Amino acid sequence: MAATTRTPVLAGNWKMYKTVQETVAYLNEFKILVQYTEGCEIVIAPAFPALAAAADAVRGSRIRIAAQNFHWESEGAFTGEVSAPMLRAAGCSDVIIGHSERRQYFGETDETVNRRVLAALEAGLRPIVCVGETLDQREANQTKDVLLRQIDGGLVSLTPESMSPIIVAYEPVWAIGTGRTATPEIAEEAHQILRDRIRENLGPETAEALRILYGGSVRPANIQGLMARPGIDGGLIGGASLDPASMAAMIHYRS
Ligand code: PGA
Repeated sequence: MAATTRTPVLAGNWKMYKTVQETVAYLNEFKILVQYTEGCEIVIAPAFPALAAAADAVRGSRIRIAAQNFHWESEGAFTGEVSAPMLRAAGCSDVIIGHSERRQYFGETDETVNRRVLAALEAGLRPIVCVGETLDQREANQTKDVLLRQIDGGLVSLTPESMSPIIVAYEPVWAIGTGRTATPEIAEEAHQILRDRIRENLGPETAEALRILYGGSVRPANIQGLMARPGIDGGLIGGASLDPASMAAMIHYRS
């Protein structure tokens, strides 16, 4: 499969922003702004309390709703947690897994990323698996090792078949929320490392079909340069996704 056949994915990661009322107001405005958009997938990841209302608000549109995390068990005595089947029932189709903020503040490891990936697939949720190096790791020339460790560890026991829904997001930690975007060259180099590894592990077809998104200070002003790179298949966008006009502008990056 040629690289150009990969449908771009633009995903907004809202982190711990927006109440249920703010979420619905945003989506009612946003869905009109993107109603005639074709040729890319649109994903919005609101906070847990707003997921069901978000799914209702986008029903009948092309917008997909993602959660930002979940527990890998399907139910049980895990106070404060939510499961993949619960997210499905709330109307989510996608879930972000292993975001660097989860790794940094909430003890997420490659092993727990892998458990979540397997549980998401089992429940019919599409995983968006995040990887990326810190500034210290980049400066110590460890970027490649870190990416390989994260991609191998996060995707243990996947096959070409089970891998097919998965999306990977390369998010260098030093670029997240800092205004310091990776250059398209830096991003593409990292994407190549990841795609090459998937090729080695799971074969050329799986590698060519895999969507790899870039995340880290993506904005309307820089998305075109990033998306011009053949190895970059979309964006995972935090801060700049919180405003509907800004998110819509990025979705319309070609025009
Ligand atoms: P940012 O966040 O766009 O605000 O840098 C990206 C992310 O954390 O997914």
